[in-house]
Amino acid sequence: MRAMVCGRWGGPEQLTLTNVPEPVPKPGEVSIDVHACSVNFADLLMIGGTYQTRPELPFVPGLEAAGTIASAPEGSGFKTGDRVVAILWHGGYAEQAVASAQETFLLPAGVSFDVAAALTSAYVSTALALIRVAHLKPSEVLLVLGASGGVGLAAVQLGKALGATVIAVASTPDKLAIAREAGADRVICSADAAWKEQVLSESGSAGVNVCVDPVGGPLFDPALSTLGWGGRYVLVGFAAGQAPSIPAHRLLVKHRAVLGSSLRYFRYHDPAALRETMDQLFAWYAQGRILPRITLRLPLEATAEGLRTLAERRAIGKVVVHVREGREAPPAARSA
Ligand SMILES: NC(=O)c1ccc[n+]([C@@H]2O[C@H](COP(=O)([O-])OP(=O)(O)OC[C@H]3O[C@@H](n4cnc5c(N)ncnc54)[C@H](OP(=O)(O)O)[C@@H]3O)[C@@H](O)[C@H]2O)c1
Repeated sequence: MRAMVCGRWGGPEQLTLTNVPEPVPKPGEVSIDVHACSVNFADLLMIGGTYQTRPELPFVPGLEAAGTIASAPEGSGFKTGDRVVAILWHGGYAEQAVASAQETFLLPAGVSFDVAAALTSAYVSTALALIRVAHLKPSEVLLVLGASGGVGLAAVQLGKALGATVIAVASTPDKLAIAREAGADRVICSADAAWKEQVLSESGSAGVNVCVDPVGGPLFDPALSTLGWGGRYVLVGFAAGQAPSIPAHRLLVKHRAVLGSSLRYFRYHDPAALRETMDQLFAWYAQGRILPRITLRLPLEATAEGLRTLAERRAIGKVVVHVREGREAPPAARSA
């Protein structure tokens, strides 16, 4: 089968399109003919050798697989030809991938493969962060950093689906326009030196209730200052490259909390949450309350180009790799 293979730690340019043997499923795993896999920032960390865990070289990156079941174990509930999406440790940038049956989900009829790929890592992670970690309530104010990225745009849409008032922060007017289109109530440019004061003013000076942060770096400190009484700051990632240090005294008097949220560790510690979250996302998608914005669709051999758009901070919403270009039905009209 064709796969994009990472043979040494480095940037997207060292991924090579290679013919490799199909992966062999272990007990409890299904085999999937992959049609679509979305590009995630974590792929860059994984191929760079700086992710939380390092796969053994060589390996195929790609954190989800949307496609059809090629084979499934007895009792798994899946049969050959079922349309599914799966969360992977890696392996999505290939014509075939293996996945735990526990982390494979049947696709409802209205969900195309590219929408399924776009919905999975980014939306599941963000929904877990907002619902299970931050316990965001409908009346609350949600601050979203990096609001035009994969996680950020998902957070804007999910915040609205949960009934919150959403303040979106991004670095350029174009990115802010995208966040506004996705439903943000207020948009604020992080390039403006007074962005923190603007957030405070937009939140009625009481401060925000929840901040979801996939960026870190220089945004962390001012964003932490915008948290009001009992505010929860959820760390999702550090796309800016720098994991912030937390000044403990800034938490005490306002009863603030800084929390981490990781899809990977939900998989270890609360796997039931994944299926419940996926069901919720499919329901919201069917109701038109969330709509992944896919701005770039690429064939398998152009995966590196997709990764570069994220590395160079140019990506908007989701970039999706169509692994079997020309063999999939056209993208669903409802994906933006
Ligand atoms: N914890 C989890 O379960 C989980 C799940 C998914 C992703 N993540 C993490 O969340 C982070 C974002 O992932 P993503 O897929 O949303 O990425 P993305 O689509 O590339 O978005 C990242 C955003 O970060 C901002 N940014 C600031 N400095 C940057 C830099 N030097 N390079 C790139 N972006 C920069 C950009 O927004 P502005 O230009 O507007 O600042 C960009 O839109 C990553 O660290 C990823 O590993 C974690």
